[in-house]
Amino acid sequence: MGDIVKIFDTTLRDGEQSPGATLSSAEKLKIARNLSRLGVDIMEAGFPAASPDDLEAVKQIAIHVGNDVPEGRTEPPVICGLARAVKRDIDKCWEAVQHAKHPRIHTFLATSPIHMQHKLRMDPEEVVDKVKEMVTYAKSFCDDIEFSPEDAGRSQPEFLYLVLGEAIKAGATTLNIPDTVGYQTPEGFGTLIKGIMENTPGIENVTVSVHCHNDLGMATANTMAGVMNGARQVEVTINGIGERAGNTSLEEVVMAMKTRGDAYDLDTNIDTTQLIPLSRQVSRFTGMAVQANKAIVGENAFAHEAGIHQDGMLKNEETYEIMRPETVGLLKSELVLGKHSGRHAFKVRMAELGYELDGDLLNDAFSKFKRVADAKKVVTDTDLIALVDDQMMRPTRIYRLDGMQVTCGTIDMPTASVRLIDPDNNPHLAVAIGTGPVDAAFKAIDSIVQVPNSLEEYVVRAVTDGIDAIGEVTVRLESADDKFKLRTDPQSGLKRARSFGGHGAETDIVVASAKAYLAALNKMLVASGKFEA
Ligand code: KIV
Ligand code: ZN
Repeated sequence: MGDIVKIFDTTLRDGEQSPGATLSSAEKLKIARNLSRLGVDIMEAGFPAASPDDLEAVKQIAIHVGNDVPEGRTEPPVICGLARAVKRDIDKCWEAVQHAKHPRIHTFLATSPIHMQHKLRMDPEEVVDKVKEMVTYAKSFCDDIEFSPEDAGRSQPEFLYLVLGEAIKAGATTLNIPDTVGYQTPEGFGTLIKGIMENTPGIENVTVSVHCHNDLGMATANTMAGVMNGARQVEVTINGIGERAGNTSLEEVVMAMKTRGDAYDLDTNIDTTQLIPLSRQVSRFTGMAVQANKAIVGENAFAHEAGIHQDGMLKNEETYEIMRPETVGLLKSELVLGKHSGRHAFKVRMAELGYELDGDLLNDAFSKFKRVADAKKVVTDTDLIALVDDQMMRPTRIYRLDGMQVTCGTIDMPTASVRLIDPDNNPHLAVAIGTGPVDAAFKAIDSIVQVPNSLEEYVVRAVTDGIDAIGEVTVRLESADDKFKLRTDPQSGLKRARSFGGHGAETDIVVASAKAYLAALNKMLVASGKFEA
């Protein structure tokens, strides 16, 4: 077997920077635990200087995930924080990551002519001096330092060799080469990495990393070209979420190496059977739906609809399948539990699916399962995961849905009555009419919660086949209020508006919609500082 390529996951930093992907601290911690179980070598937990909340979230991950050895590993993952090349950012970053057993500071400064001239307003000599100064400063806190020349994909190779050589002299241990705007081609990026490997003084003593964006749909191809030319760390996100068209997908590069050992002769430490469950969880938390034809984790990635394909599949699966679905954690939708199944059977099955439930969590999940089993008769593994994720992953419960009723159809105006319980346990009842039952339900909720917002995205999908399937709804809301422009964007330095995702899963999609909407509103209320998660 060839070399191990380190997986540096940046779902919680670059991924979370994408519009609508805002996660609460509790959600970040849960994803971080699962990334650790997945086997990532390094996780970039956030940009601590963005806001006090961001700093606290990275700190909690450093404390709780950065000191816990996941099953099958001998060490906890490295916990990394991002910092611009300024002292204040590096101080905040160290404040957060120092609690991990293996902390890393990742600092960056742009090196492309366009960024140096228009964004930084610095000349190349000033950039080199700043890199030396800030890498040295970061090194005074921490041994493990990563440096990225931002927009390396559009930088002059000779200038990169110089900057990177100085970063190594100042103490950088990983040099990450970002194609920040997704401009590169596989040939061009491979040549750039090759040139860096051959011309940078001291490069043999550090790890070279690649970080690609997907603006031209070539992030995975560019990343693999980097690896073929000597990079031994790849920066990736679950589902490829990230700025604009996103970052390189973790699942794509990992499965490329696993499936095409003949082409790459490289491996990773990832437990690939956790890819699909984690992909679904990230999608639910962020409220960002995964496109059905997305490689590896999309709904249709292993579906064989065309008759000719099905015929081939029945004769021999390898005719149309290059990976086994189980390898990436796709569960067969078997009937495992029904309305007569008891608590014990439910608890054992959930544990087999990776969910250890006890106490109140078990009680709540079991009564939800019973309700669904009554309505649906056939409850598959996929249904169970959707239900329990829905319950476990919505820790922010400021307002709670206590009950609702809708009437709709062609005769009368669609009307919804909604009963919510507020944080002090007081019930609130509201009735509203709308253009349809979902619109009416959202208006009724609005009249109680009163957080001005606009609905940016509303997606419904069936978890399993059949007319009685559980429906999953994700919504994304944007606040109409300026006080939500809370966090600093690391690259532009500007305060950015946040949007908030919510998720709900029920056999009744109007109820699922109301729950998803309320979940997103609850996140907004927490972000406003009026309530605690
Ligand atoms: O895309 C980029 O340049 C980045 C850096 C901060 C590494 O995300
Ligand atoms: Zn990036």
